Amino acid sequence: MSQYQAVKGTRDIFPEEATQWKYVERVVHTLASLYGFSEIRVPVFEYTELFQRGIGSTTDIVGKEMFSFQPDPKGRSLTLRPEMTAGVMRAALQKNLLSLAPVHKLYYIGELFRKERPQAGRQRQFSQFGSELIGVSSPAAVAEVITLMMHVFESLGLRGLKLRINTLGDGADRARYREALQAYFAPFHEILDDASKERLEKNPLRILDSKNPAMQELVDGAPRLYDYLNGSSLQDFEKVLFYLAERNIAYDIDHRLVRGLDYYSHTAFEVTSSELGAQDAIGGGGRYDGLARELGSTADVPASGFAVGMERLLITMEKQGLFAALNSPGPQVSIVLQQQDLLDHALQIAWRLRKAGIKTEIDLAARSMKAQMREANRIRASYALFVGTAEYTTGNYTLKNLATSEQRTLSLDAVLQILHEPAARELLE
Ligand code: HAM
Repeated sequence: MSQYQAVKGTRDIFPEEATQWKYVERVVHTLASLYGFSEIRVPVFEYTELFQRGIGSTTDIVGKEMFSFQPDPKGRSLTLRPEMTAGVMRAALQKNLLSLAPVHKLYYIGELFRKERPQAGRQRQFSQFGSELIGVSSPAAVAEVITLMMHVFESLGLRGLKLRINTLGDGADRARYREALQAYFAPFHEILDDASKERLEKNPLRILDSKNPAMQELVDGAPRLYDYLNGSSLQDFEKVLFYLAERNIAYDIDHRLVRGLDYYSHTAFEVTSSELGAQDAIGGGGRYDGLARELGSTADVPASGFAVGMERLLITMEKQGLFAALNSPGPQVSIVLQQQDLLDHALQIAWRLRKAGIKTEIDLAARSMKAQMREANRIRASYALFVGTAEYTTGNYTLKNLATSEQRTLSLDAVLQILHEPAARELLE
Protein backbone atom coordinates (compact mmCIF):
# COMPACT_ATOMS: atom_id res chain seq x y z
CA MET A 1 0.00 0.00 0.00
CA SER A 2 1.20 3.48 -0.79
CA GLN A 3 1.87 5.87 2.05
CA TYR A 4 -0.28 8.36 0.15
CA GLN A 5 -4.06 8.48 0.11
CA ALA A 6 -6.30 10.49 -2.18
CA VAL A 7 -6.92 13.93 -0.69
CA LYS A 8 -10.06 14.14 1.45
CA GLY A 9 -12.98 15.15 -0.71
CA THR A 10 -11.48 13.73 -3.91
CA ARG A 11 -11.95 10.24 -5.31
CA ASP A 12 -10.63 7.88 -7.94
CA ILE A 13 -12.82 6.56 -10.70
CA PHE A 14 -11.79 3.03 -11.63
CA PRO A 15 -12.57 1.45 -15.01
CA GLU A 16 -15.94 -0.10 -14.17
CA GLU A 17 -17.22 3.21 -12.85
CA ALA A 18 -15.58 5.13 -15.71
CA THR A 19 -17.79 3.08 -18.04
CA GLN A 20 -20.81 4.47 -16.18
CA TRP A 21 -19.48 8.02 -16.51
CA LYS A 22 -18.88 7.59 -20.23
CA TYR A 23 -22.41 6.28 -20.67
CA VAL A 24 -23.92 9.31 -18.89
CA GLU A 25 -21.62 11.68 -20.80
CA ARG A 26 -22.71 10.13 -24.10
CA VAL A 27 -26.36 10.73 -23.25
CA VAL A 28 -25.54 14.33 -22.29
CA HIS A 29 -23.68 14.96 -25.57
CA THR A 30 -26.49 13.41 -27.62
CA LEU A 31 -29.35 15.25 -25.96
CA ALA A 32 -27.55 18.61 -25.76
CA SER A 33 -27.00 18.36 -29.48
CA LEU A 34 -30.65 17.37 -30.03
CA TYR A 35 -31.64 20.68 -28.43
CA GLY A 36 -29.05 22.63 -30.44
CA PHE A 37 -26.48 23.18 -27.66
CA SER A 38 -22.75 23.13 -28.53
CA GLU A 39 -19.94 22.21 -26.18
CA ILE A 40 -17.73 24.82 -24.52
CA ARG A 41 -14.63 24.11 -22.41
CA VAL A 42 -13.38 26.89 -20.15
CA PRO A 43 -10.27 27.03 -17.95
CA VAL A 44 -10.17 25.31 -14.59
CA PHE A 45 -8.98 28.49 -12.88
CA GLU A 46 -9.93 32.12 -13.31
CA TYR A 47 -9.20 35.41 -11.58
CA THR A 48 -10.75 35.31 -8.12
CA GLU A 49 -12.70 38.53 -8.71
CA LEU A 50 -14.69 36.84 -11.47
CA PHE A 51 -16.33 34.56 -8.91
CA GLN A 52 -16.56 37.23 -6.22
CA ARG A 53 -18.44 39.50 -8.60
CA GLY A 54 -20.35 36.78 -10.40
CA ILE A 55 -21.51 34.49 -7.60
CA GLY A 56 -21.69 37.18 -4.91
CA SER A 57 -19.37 37.98 -2.01
CA THR A 58 -21.93 37.09 0.68
CA THR A 59 -22.56 33.57 -0.63
CA ASP A 60 -21.11 30.51 1.14
CA ILE A 61 -19.27 29.56 -2.06
CA VAL A 62 -17.32 32.82 -2.21
CA GLY A 63 -17.16 33.40 1.54
CA LYS A 64 -15.69 30.08 2.60
CA GLU A 65 -15.53 27.46 -0.13
CA MET A 66 -13.13 28.73 -2.79
CA PHE A 67 -9.69 27.26 -3.38
CA SER A 68 -7.75 30.44 -4.09
CA PHE A 69 -4.03 30.89 -4.58
CA GLN A 70 -1.56 33.53 -5.62
CA PRO A 71 0.93 32.27 -8.20
CA ASP A 72 3.47 34.97 -7.37
CA PRO A 73 3.66 37.64 -4.64
CA LYS A 74 2.59 40.43 -6.96
CA GLY A 75 0.21 38.34 -9.04
CA ARG A 76 -3.56 38.56 -8.93
CA SER A 77 -5.34 35.95 -6.86
CA LEU A 78 -6.62 32.96 -8.84
CA THR A 79 -9.36 30.50 -7.92
CA LEU A 80 -10.15 26.95 -8.99
CA ARG A 81 -13.59 27.24 -10.55
CA PRO A 82 -16.36 26.44 -8.02
CA GLU A 83 -19.00 26.51 -10.78
CA MET A 84 -19.14 27.01 -14.53
CA THR A 85 -21.62 29.78 -15.21
CA ALA A 86 -19.34 32.72 -14.39
CA GLY A 87 -16.52 31.31 -16.54
CA VAL A 88 -18.83 30.57 -19.47
CA MET A 89 -20.28 34.09 -19.33
CA ARG A 90 -16.77 35.55 -19.07
CA ALA A 91 -15.77 33.59 -22.17
CA ALA A 92 -18.88 34.68 -24.10
CA LEU A 93 -18.25 38.33 -23.25
CA GLN A 94 -14.52 38.13 -23.95
CA LYS A 95 -15.15 36.62 -27.39
CA ASN A 96 -18.02 39.04 -28.00
CA LEU A 97 -20.14 36.07 -29.03
CA LEU A 98 -23.29 38.12 -29.30
CA SER A 99 -21.84 40.09 -32.18
CA LEU A 100 -21.81 36.84 -34.15
CA ALA A 101 -25.36 35.71 -33.38
CA PRO A 102 -28.02 36.90 -30.95
CA VAL A 103 -28.31 33.59 -29.10
CA HIS A 104 -25.70 31.08 -27.99
CA LYS A 105 -26.62 27.72 -26.55
CA LEU A 106 -23.66 26.17 -24.79
CA TYR A 107 -23.16 23.08 -22.64
CA TYR A 108 -20.28 21.62 -20.66
CA ILE A 109 -19.07 18.70 -18.61
CA GLY A 110 -16.23 19.39 -16.20
CA GLU A 111 -14.63 19.41 -12.76
CA LEU A 112 -15.36 21.95 -10.05
CA PHE A 113 -13.76 22.66 -6.68
CA ARG A 114 -15.40 23.73 -3.44
CA LYS A 115 -13.82 23.63 0.01
CA GLU A 116 -16.86 22.05 1.64
CA ARG A 117 -16.87 19.51 4.46
CA PRO A 118 -16.77 16.20 2.57
CA GLN A 119 -19.62 13.77 3.14
CA ALA A 120 -21.69 11.37 1.05
CA GLY A 121 -22.46 13.16 -2.24
CA ARG A 122 -20.41 16.19 -1.27
CA GLN A 123 -16.82 16.42 -2.45
CA ARG A 124 -14.13 19.03 -2.79
CA GLN A 125 -13.53 18.03 -6.39
CA PHE A 126 -16.74 17.12 -8.19
CA SER A 127 -18.17 17.29 -11.70
CA GLN A 128 -21.14 18.86 -13.34
CA PHE A 129 -22.77 18.82 -16.69
CA GLY A 130 -24.86 21.83 -17.53
CA SER A 131 -26.00 24.25 -20.16
CA GLU A 132 -26.20 28.00 -20.56
CA LEU A 133 -28.54 29.69 -23.02
CA ILE A 134 -27.05 33.14 -23.54
CA GLY A 135 -28.48 36.18 -25.33
CA VAL A 136 -32.20 35.92 -24.70
CA SER A 137 -34.05 35.49 -21.51
CA SER A 138 -37.69 34.66 -21.45
CA PRO A 139 -40.01 32.05 -20.01
CA ALA A 140 -39.47 30.08 -23.24
CA ALA A 141 -35.68 30.15 -22.82
CA VAL A 142 -35.65 29.04 -19.19
CA ALA A 143 -38.25 26.38 -19.98
CA GLU A 144 -35.92 25.17 -22.72
CA VAL A 145 -33.03 24.53 -20.32
CA ILE A 146 -35.29 22.90 -17.72
CA THR A 147 -36.72 20.65 -20.44
CA LEU A 148 -33.26 19.59 -21.61
CA MET A 149 -32.24 18.79 -18.02
CA MET A 150 -35.39 16.75 -17.37
CA HIS A 151 -35.00 15.00 -20.73
CA VAL A 152 -31.52 13.83 -19.71
CA PHE A 153 -32.91 12.47 -16.42
CA GLU A 154 -35.71 10.71 -18.24
CA SER A 155 -33.41 9.20 -20.87
CA LEU A 156 -31.21 7.79 -18.15
CA GLY A 157 -34.29 6.19 -16.59
CA LEU A 158 -34.20 8.11 -13.29
CA ARG A 159 -37.30 7.89 -11.15
CA GLY A 160 -38.69 9.85 -8.22
CA LEU A 161 -36.89 13.15 -8.80
CA LYS A 162 -38.58 16.30 -7.56
CA LEU A 163 -38.39 19.61 -9.42
CA ARG A 164 -38.92 22.62 -7.16
CA ILE A 165 -39.33 25.99 -8.76
CA ASN A 166 -39.62 29.58 -7.61
CA THR A 167 -39.40 33.08 -8.96
CA LEU A 168 -37.06 35.69 -7.56
CA GLY A 169 -38.71 38.50 -9.53
CA ASP A 170 -36.84 41.38 -11.14
CA GLY A 171 -34.40 43.83 -9.55
CA ALA A 172 -37.13 46.23 -8.39
CA ASP A 173 -39.12 43.37 -6.80
CA ARG A 174 -36.04 42.23 -4.93
CA ALA A 175 -35.20 45.78 -3.78
CA ARG A 176 -38.67 46.08 -2.19
CA TYR A 177 -38.35 42.61 -0.70
CA ARG A 178 -34.90 43.40 0.65
CA GLU A 179 -36.32 46.30 2.66
CA ALA A 180 -39.12 44.09 3.94
CA LEU A 181 -36.60 41.47 5.05
CA GLN A 182 -34.41 44.05 6.78
CA ALA A 183 -37.46 45.37 8.61
CA TYR A 184 -38.44 41.82 9.62
CA PHE A 185 -35.00 40.67 10.82
CA ALA A 186 -33.90 43.96 12.49
CA PRO A 187 -35.74 43.38 15.81
CA PHE A 188 -34.08 39.94 16.04
CA HIS A 189 -30.58 41.33 15.51
CA GLU A 190 -29.34 39.92 18.84
CA ILE A 191 -30.29 36.34 18.01
CA LEU A 192 -28.96 36.35 14.45
CA ASP A 193 -25.77 34.34 13.97
CA ASP A 194 -22.67 36.23 12.85
CA ALA A 195 -23.02 35.34 9.17
CA SER A 196 -26.64 36.48 9.17
CA LYS A 197 -25.76 39.76 10.93
CA GLU A 198 -23.33 40.52 8.14
CA ARG A 199 -25.86 39.47 5.50
CA LEU A 200 -28.59 41.62 7.03
CA GLU A 201 -26.73 44.71 5.88
CA LYS A 202 -25.30 43.51 2.61
CA ASN A 203 -27.72 40.94 1.28
CA PRO A 204 -30.62 39.89 3.53
CA LEU A 205 -31.90 37.39 0.93
CA ARG A 206 -28.91 35.22 1.77
CA ILE A 207 -30.19 34.78 5.35
CA LEU A 208 -32.99 32.69 3.84
CA ASP A 209 -30.37 30.27 2.51
CA SER A 210 -28.83 29.82 6.00
CA LYS A 211 -27.89 26.23 6.82
CA ASN A 212 -27.88 26.98 10.56
CA PRO A 213 -30.80 25.05 12.18
CA ALA A 214 -30.95 27.68 14.94
CA MET A 215 -31.99 30.24 12.32
CA GLN A 216 -34.67 28.07 10.78
CA GLU A 217 -37.68 29.17 12.82
CA LEU A 218 -36.87 32.81 12.24
CA VAL A 219 -36.37 32.21 8.52
CA ASP A 220 -39.67 30.32 8.30
CA GLY A 221 -41.56 33.34 9.61
CA ALA A 222 -39.96 35.80 7.14
CA PRO A 223 -42.06 37.53 4.46
CA ARG A 224 -42.25 35.81 1.08
CA LEU A 225 -40.72 37.33 -2.01
CA TYR A 226 -43.75 36.15 -3.92
CA ASP A 227 -45.85 38.80 -2.18
CA TYR A 228 -43.57 41.55 -3.51
CA LEU A 229 -43.67 40.62 -7.20
CA ASN A 230 -45.08 43.00 -9.76
CA GLY A 231 -47.62 41.91 -12.35
CA SER A 232 -45.21 41.25 -15.18
CA SER A 233 -42.90 39.12 -12.97
CA LEU A 234 -45.92 37.04 -11.97
CA GLN A 235 -46.98 36.64 -15.60
CA ASP A 236 -43.48 35.62 -16.53
CA PHE A 237 -43.49 32.89 -13.89
CA GLU A 238 -46.94 31.68 -14.93
CA LYS A 239 -45.68 31.29 -18.48
CA VAL A 240 -42.73 29.13 -17.38
CA LEU A 241 -45.15 26.91 -15.44
CA PHE A 242 -47.40 26.75 -18.50
CA TYR A 243 -44.53 25.41 -20.65
CA LEU A 244 -43.64 22.80 -18.05
CA ALA A 245 -47.25 21.63 -17.78
CA GLU A 246 -47.47 21.42 -21.59
CA ARG A 247 -44.48 19.07 -21.57
CA ASN A 248 -45.75 16.91 -18.70
CA ILE A 249 -42.93 18.06 -16.44
CA ALA A 250 -44.16 17.82 -12.86
CA TYR A 251 -43.05 20.54 -10.43
CA ASP A 252 -43.67 21.90 -6.94
CA ILE A 253 -43.67 25.63 -6.38
CA ASP A 254 -41.40 26.40 -3.42
CA HIS A 255 -41.50 30.04 -2.35
CA ARG A 256 -38.53 29.49 -0.03
CA LEU A 257 -36.15 28.40 -2.78
CA VAL A 258 -33.42 31.07 -3.12
CA ARG A 259 -30.41 29.01 -4.33
CA GLY A 260 -26.83 29.47 -3.16
CA LEU A 261 -25.64 31.90 -5.84
CA ASP A 262 -26.56 35.58 -6.14
CA TYR A 263 -26.90 35.93 -9.87
CA TYR A 264 -30.47 34.67 -10.27
CA SER A 265 -33.50 36.70 -11.22
CA HIS A 266 -37.00 35.51 -12.09
CA THR A 267 -37.07 31.72 -12.37
CA ALA A 268 -34.87 29.58 -10.11
CA PHE A 269 -35.19 25.82 -9.76
CA GLU A 270 -33.66 22.81 -8.09
CA VAL A 271 -34.07 19.06 -8.54
CA THR A 272 -33.75 16.74 -5.57
CA SER A 273 -33.40 12.98 -5.35
CA SER A 274 -34.79 11.02 -2.41
CA GLU A 275 -31.93 8.51 -2.81
CA LEU A 276 -29.33 11.04 -1.70
CA GLY A 277 -29.75 11.74 2.03
CA ALA A 278 -28.64 15.13 3.36
CA GLN A 279 -27.05 16.35 0.11
CA ASP A 280 -30.15 15.73 -1.94
CA ALA A 281 -29.83 18.43 -4.64
CA ILE A 282 -28.94 16.72 -7.90
CA GLY A 283 -29.16 19.84 -10.04
CA GLY A 284 -30.33 23.41 -10.20
CA GLY A 285 -30.29 26.61 -12.13
CA GLY A 286 -32.36 29.53 -13.30
CA ARG A 287 -32.29 32.86 -15.11
CA TYR A 288 -29.40 35.20 -14.54
CA ASP A 289 -30.07 38.34 -16.52
CA GLY A 290 -27.79 40.54 -14.39
CA LEU A 291 -24.60 38.48 -14.40
CA ALA A 292 -23.09 39.98 -17.56
CA ARG A 293 -23.38 43.54 -16.23
CA GLU A 294 -21.95 42.38 -12.91
CA LEU A 295 -18.92 41.19 -14.92
CA GLY A 296 -18.54 44.58 -16.58
CA SER A 297 -20.63 44.23 -19.74
CA THR A 298 -22.05 47.55 -20.89
CA ALA A 299 -24.93 45.79 -22.62
CA ASP A 300 -27.55 43.51 -21.13
CA VAL A 301 -26.80 39.87 -21.82
CA PRO A 302 -29.70 37.92 -20.40
CA ALA A 303 -29.29 34.19 -19.90
CA SER A 304 -30.53 31.03 -18.22
CA GLY A 305 -28.97 27.68 -17.43
CA PHE A 306 -28.67 24.67 -15.18
CA ALA A 307 -26.02 22.37 -13.79
CA VAL A 308 -26.33 18.79 -12.56
CA GLY A 309 -23.87 17.15 -10.15
CA MET A 310 -22.45 14.10 -11.92
CA GLU A 311 -21.49 12.24 -8.72
CA ARG A 312 -24.97 12.66 -7.24
CA LEU A 313 -26.53 11.64 -10.53
CA LEU A 314 -24.39 8.50 -10.61
CA ILE A 315 -25.15 7.64 -6.97
CA THR A 316 -28.87 7.91 -7.73
CA MET A 317 -28.56 5.78 -10.87
CA GLU A 318 -26.58 3.12 -9.01
CA LYS A 319 -29.22 2.97 -6.25
CA GLN A 320 -31.95 2.62 -8.85
CA GLY A 321 -30.11 -0.20 -10.61
CA LEU A 322 -29.78 1.74 -13.84
CA PHE A 323 -26.33 0.46 -14.68
CA ALA A 324 -27.31 -3.21 -14.60
CA ALA A 325 -27.35 -3.58 -18.38
CA LEU A 326 -24.17 -1.66 -18.89
CA ASN A 327 -21.51 -4.08 -20.05
CA SER A 328 -18.66 -2.73 -22.06
CA PRO A 329 -17.96 -5.09 -24.96
CA GLY A 330 -15.06 -7.46 -24.43
CA PRO A 331 -12.18 -7.69 -26.91
CA GLN A 332 -12.78 -9.41 -30.20
CA VAL A 333 -9.65 -11.50 -29.83
CA SER A 334 -7.63 -12.75 -26.90
CA ILE A 335 -4.27 -14.13 -27.94
CA VAL A 336 -3.40 -17.30 -26.02
CA LEU A 337 0.30 -17.97 -25.93
CA GLN A 338 1.34 -21.63 -25.67
CA GLN A 339 5.01 -20.93 -24.99
CA GLN A 340 6.48 -17.83 -23.48
CA ASP A 341 9.45 -17.78 -25.91
CA LEU A 342 6.95 -16.91 -28.66
CA LEU A 343 5.89 -13.72 -26.89
CA ASP A 344 7.65 -11.42 -29.36
CA HIS A 345 5.99 -13.15 -32.29
CA ALA A 346 2.60 -12.98 -30.56
CA LEU A 347 3.07 -9.29 -29.81
CA GLN A 348 3.69 -8.71 -33.50
CA ILE A 349 0.41 -10.48 -34.31
CA ALA A 350 -1.42 -8.39 -31.70
CA TRP A 351 0.00 -5.26 -33.30
CA ARG A 352 -1.18 -6.36 -36.76
CA LEU A 353 -4.67 -7.15 -35.51
CA ARG A 354 -4.92 -3.81 -33.69
CA LYS A 355 -3.68 -1.90 -36.74
CA ALA A 356 -6.48 -3.60 -38.64
CA GLY A 357 -8.95 -2.21 -36.07
CA ILE A 358 -9.52 -5.46 -34.20
CA LYS A 359 -9.71 -5.08 -30.42
CA THR A 360 -7.05 -7.50 -29.16
CA GLU A 361 -5.81 -8.59 -25.73
CA ILE A 362 -2.57 -10.36 -24.99
CA ASP A 363 -1.19 -11.59 -21.67
CA LEU A 364 1.91 -9.76 -20.49
CA ALA A 365 2.11 -11.49 -17.12
CA ALA A 366 3.55 -14.81 -18.44
CA ARG A 367 0.59 -16.78 -17.13
CA SER A 368 -0.09 -20.42 -17.94
CA MET A 369 -2.24 -21.27 -20.96
CA LYS A 370 -5.05 -22.33 -18.66
CA ALA A 371 -4.90 -19.01 -16.83
CA GLN A 372 -4.88 -17.13 -20.14
CA MET A 373 -8.03 -19.02 -21.25
CA ARG A 374 -9.72 -18.21 -17.94
CA GLU A 375 -8.84 -14.55 -18.41
CA ALA A 376 -10.17 -14.56 -22.00
CA ASN A 377 -13.51 -15.83 -20.70
CA ARG A 378 -13.53 -13.39 -17.79
CA ILE A 379 -13.09 -10.38 -20.08
CA ARG A 380 -15.71 -11.83 -22.44
CA ALA A 381 -13.45 -12.12 -25.49
CA SER A 382 -15.26 -13.34 -28.61
CA TYR A 383 -12.35 -15.39 -29.94
CA ALA A 384 -9.13 -16.95 -28.70
CA LEU A 385 -6.21 -17.03 -31.15
CA PHE A 386 -3.65 -19.67 -30.22
CA VAL A 387 0.03 -19.04 -30.83
CA GLY A 388 2.35 -22.06 -30.43
CA THR A 389 5.34 -23.62 -32.17
CA ALA A 390 3.22 -25.32 -34.84
CA GLU A 391 1.49 -22.01 -35.61
CA TYR A 392 4.80 -20.20 -35.66
CA THR A 393 6.36 -22.61 -38.16
CA THR A 394 3.35 -23.06 -40.45
CA GLY A 395 2.01 -19.50 -40.26
CA ASN A 396 -1.46 -20.94 -39.62
CA TYR A 397 -3.23 -20.10 -36.36
CA THR A 398 -6.09 -21.69 -34.51
CA LEU A 399 -9.01 -19.33 -34.02
CA LYS A 400 -11.60 -20.48 -31.51
CA ASN A 401 -15.06 -19.01 -31.17
CA LEU A 402 -15.46 -18.87 -27.39
CA ALA A 403 -19.26 -18.84 -27.54
CA THR A 404 -19.65 -21.97 -29.72
CA SER A 405 -16.24 -23.61 -29.06
CA GLU A 406 -15.85 -24.16 -32.82
CA GLN A 407 -12.34 -23.70 -34.09
CA ARG A 408 -10.47 -23.45 -37.38
CA THR A 409 -6.84 -23.20 -38.36
CA LEU A 410 -6.22 -20.28 -40.70
CA SER A 411 -3.53 -18.02 -42.07
CA LEU A 412 -3.29 -14.63 -40.40
CA ASP A 413 -4.73 -12.98 -43.50
CA ALA A 414 -7.74 -15.29 -43.34
CA VAL A 415 -8.13 -14.49 -39.62
CA LEU A 416 -8.10 -10.79 -40.41
CA GLN A 417 -10.64 -11.27 -43.14
CA ILE A 418 -12.98 -13.30 -40.96
CA LEU A 419 -12.85 -10.80 -38.12
CA HIS A 420 -13.47 -7.94 -40.51
CA GLU A 421 -16.19 -9.30 -42.66
CA PRO A 422 -19.38 -10.25 -40.91
CA ALA A 423 -20.38 -12.59 -43.74
CA ALA A 424 -17.14 -14.52 -43.45
CA ARG A 425 -17.42 -14.43 -39.69
CA GLU A 426 -20.76 -16.21 -39.88
CA LEU A 427 -18.91 -19.28 -41.13
CA LEU A 428 -17.46 -19.56 -37.70
CA GLU A 429 -20.49 -18.54 -35.68
P1 HAM B 1 -25.23 24.63 -7.79
O1 HAM B 1 -26.61 24.42 -7.23
O2 HAM B 1 -24.26 25.30 -6.91
O3 HAM B 1 -25.44 25.46 -9.12
O4 HAM B 1 -24.61 23.26 -8.26
C1 HAM B 1 -25.33 22.39 -9.13
C2 HAM B 1 -25.18 20.95 -8.67
O5 HAM B 1 -23.81 20.60 -8.50
C3 HAM B 1 -25.79 20.65 -7.30
O6 HAM B 1 -27.18 20.45 -7.41
C4 HAM B 1 -25.07 19.38 -6.92
O7 HAM B 1 -25.67 18.25 -7.53
C5 HAM B 1 -23.69 19.58 -7.52
N1 HAM B 1 -22.75 19.98 -6.45
C6 HAM B 1 -22.57 21.21 -5.93
N2 HAM B 1 -21.60 21.18 -4.98
C7 HAM B 1 -21.18 19.91 -4.89
C8 HAM B 1 -20.19 19.23 -4.11
N3 HAM B 1 -19.43 19.87 -3.22
N4 HAM B 1 -20.02 17.90 -4.30
C9 HAM B 1 -20.76 17.23 -5.21
N5 HAM B 1 -21.70 17.82 -5.98
C10 HAM B 1 -21.91 19.14 -5.83
C11 HAM B 1 -24.43 25.89 -9.93
O8 HAM B 1 -23.29 25.51 -9.85
C12 HAM B 1 -24.89 26.85 -11.01
N6 HAM B 1 -23.71 27.23 -11.81
C13 HAM B 1 -25.96 26.23 -11.87
C14 HAM B 1 -26.39 27.13 -12.99
C15 HAM B 1 -26.02 27.04 -14.29
N7 HAM B 1 -27.18 28.19 -12.89
C16 HAM B 1 -27.30 28.76 -14.08
N8 HAM B 1 -26.60 28.08 -14.93
